[in-house]
Amino acid sequence: MQTIQGKVVVITGASSGLGEATARLLAAKDAKVVLGARRADRINALAADIKIQGGEAIAKVTDVTKLAEVQALVDLAVKTYGRLDVIINNAGLMPSSLLSLLKVEDWERMIDVNLKGVLYGIAAALPIMQTQKSGHIINVSSVSGHKVSPGTAVYAATKHAVRVISEGLRQEVTPFNIRTTILSPGAVATELPDSVTDGPTAQGIKEFYKIAIPAESFARMVAFAIEQPEDVNVNEILFRPTAQEY
Ligand SMILES: NC(=O)c1ccc[n+]([C@@H]2O[C@H](COP(=O)([O-])OP(=O)(O)OC[C@H]3O[C@@H](n4cnc5c(N)ncnc54)[C@H](OP(=O)(O)O)[C@@H]3O)[C@@H](O)[C@H]2O)c1
Repeated sequence: MQTIQGKVVVITGASSGLGEATARLLAAKDAKVVLGARRADRINALAADIKIQGGEAIAKVTDVTKLAEVQALVDLAVKTYGRLDVIINNAGLMPSSLLSLLKVEDWERMIDVNLKGVLYGIAAALPIMQTQKSGHIINVSSVSGHKVSPGTAVYAATKHAVRVISEGLRQEVTPFNIRTTILSPGAVATELPDSVTDGPTAQGIKEFYKIAIPAESFARMVAFAIEQPEDVNVNEILFRPTAQEY
């Protein structure tokens, strides 16, 4: 097994939910975590809390829809810690609704954050990892990267795209000793359902999320993928609450 100790890990969307839980777990395993999200108060408080617990963390306000800001986050990691071992392209939102409601702004936000944000993370990290001849790119997809149902078309499209991009990336980076992992969760208890803007859809999702499992479940999957020996590439982890049928 590899150790997480000392690894420099950039996490986007670290201000809540899966990103926050992952930052806490990896920092407890002595990773150096570099936290990005738009809410400064949340990431600064998280970094401070991790340090109080004896961990190592820095935070930088980052909007993943802006390539320059994602690049600045990655550059801060390298400037501060001298290298980049892992990037977790986790920032995302899920304002689901029926296509017939024509919530075009929500469609665009999902494409900008869930899809282009992941590409920007790859763009920022890849040259550094290629030069290092090592690294690990973890992209967050979803059960919705495998399935679609009424109301989830655009969200599922972004999450399918994340899987396709990750698989293409995997094939391209094998000469550079770079690992790639797709993490595809089912219902996990986070702030994600709050991003739904359509009332009836929000109600349905709230009902569905009654079976949601804690965010630490996701963090453990991330740790599992990182901890494998360097010649083992965990390409995808798909997991759900035991009670989830969909
Ligand atoms: N929870 C689930 O059931 C579930 C299932 C499958 C997949 N996922 C995926 O898991 C990922 C994390 O979501 P979550 O469940 O942890 O939800 P969450 O608690 O709402 O967290 C979403 C994170 O994304 C960040 N974010 C949103 N827009 C951003 C932007 N433009 N730039 C930078 N950061 C941005 C938010 O930070 P700021 O608002 O501070 O920027 C927040 O930290 C998402 O990609 C989601 O699609 C979640």
